[in-house]
Amino acid sequence: MTELAGKRIVLGVTGGIAAYKAAELVRLLGKAGAEVHVVMTENGARFVTPLTFQALSGHPVWLDPWDDRRANNMSHIDLSRSADALLIVPASANTLAKLANGIADDLLSTLCLARDCPLLVAPAMNRQMWHNPATQRNVAQLRADGIEILGPDSGSQACGEVGEGRMMEPEAIREALIGFFQPKLLAGKTVVMTAGPTYEPIDPVRGITNISSGKMGYALARACAQAGARVQLVSGPVALEVPHGVECISVHTAQEMYQAVMQRVGAAQVFIGVAAVADFRPRQSAENKIKKTAGQAPVIELDLNPDILAEVASLPAAPFCVGFAAESQDLDSYAEQKRSRKRLPLVVGNLVQDGMGGDENTVILYDDAGRHPLPRAPKSIVSQGIVAHLATLLAQDEAKH
Ligand code: CTP
Repeated sequence: MTELAGKRIVLGVTGGIAAYKAAELVRLLGKAGAEVHVVMTENGARFVTPLTFQALSGHPVWLDPWDDRRANNMSHIDLSRSADALLIVPASANTLAKLANGIADDLLSTLCLARDCPLLVAPAMNRQMWHNPATQRNVAQLRADGIEILGPDSGSQACGEVGEGRMMEPEAIREALIGFFQPKLLAGKTVVMTAGPTYEPIDPVRGITNISSGKMGYALARACAQAGARVQLVSGPVALEVPHGVECISVHTAQEMYQAVMQRVGAAQVFIGVAAVADFRPRQSAENKIKKTAGQAPVIELDLNPDILAEVASLPAAPFCVGFAAESQDLDSYAEQKRSRKRLPLVVGNLVQDGMGGDENTVILYDDAGRHPLPRAPKSIVSQGIVAHLATLLAQDEAKH
């Protein structure tokens, strides 16, 4: 199962050097399960050939409004009829101007005017063209017309200048499109989360940690952001990219994680503890590397770490708290024990052998109404299921108070 499965996207490519990045986007959207049909402007086809897009999308490319490959000769109507979204990548200054004024003088602009699906555009142009009052006026008009503007980013530009107008990267556009299709179940909510392992130093080169990859926490942070939440992710050391739209606070030890959470959780409606927090830490972390002494193993004394989730759940004005239970056996009983011990409305349980480190997971949700197994799926899809369940419980909880 993929996140854009069943989605039909019409991708418009207009004239700009960033057109080469649209080729990568077609590949990314295809990998996410979308069916992509490419429409190019004449200027777009000067930068990248239609053949490239045909090969990558696996479908014929459309350029000419008088194309007679459709029997009714109405490709401008037909193409958008069955589309879930029309996406223009890159969108030149000229294209934005045409869209803002309802000009339909080629296939793509006619398609935009005749569409009955959402339109998203990723502008790409020199910084002066972007800041030109005419372009800014057009962008404001497009926003007012309900058109989604993706970016642009700031940075070095093909013309050698540095500034705003650089097109969003293909991965970020894919993320924005996936997010666009997600119901905004957590709109207006602030979610504080923990993810990854913690690292408790023994000396400058050694420490106590665990094998948590952080993948489940990061996938869930992304799903919360795509559901419209403001997400603050307090993360232990992991080798993962921070999801688009998520604020990440990097920490190492459980105590640092605890402090970072406590500073932020007062303003949150939801707290989700996904981190595999080390339960114990060395009483002392040696300043210098511990040297071996012949025939003698050092004794490391341990102290208990704070239980971050339990502490948050017992705050007088506690947010809606979600815990994770990763077990190697007896999942149902351990998960329920955790739920009642920490007084949590929702626990997500999984068997470590099913999920830890991998890209897929099989989870069961435990709440007052019982157990709710979710089908095995990529962590991104599992996360959407968790968000949907969480949002329902949160709404019920809010209705009660
Ligand atoms: N948790 C936490 N702080 C800790 C320990 C755990 O916030 N110091 C959170 C985890 O993020 C997770 C849940 O609590 O959401 C896991 O519960 P816990 O009982 O601590 O799990 P284990 O450490 O696996 O417990 P046990 O040793 O009982 O299996």
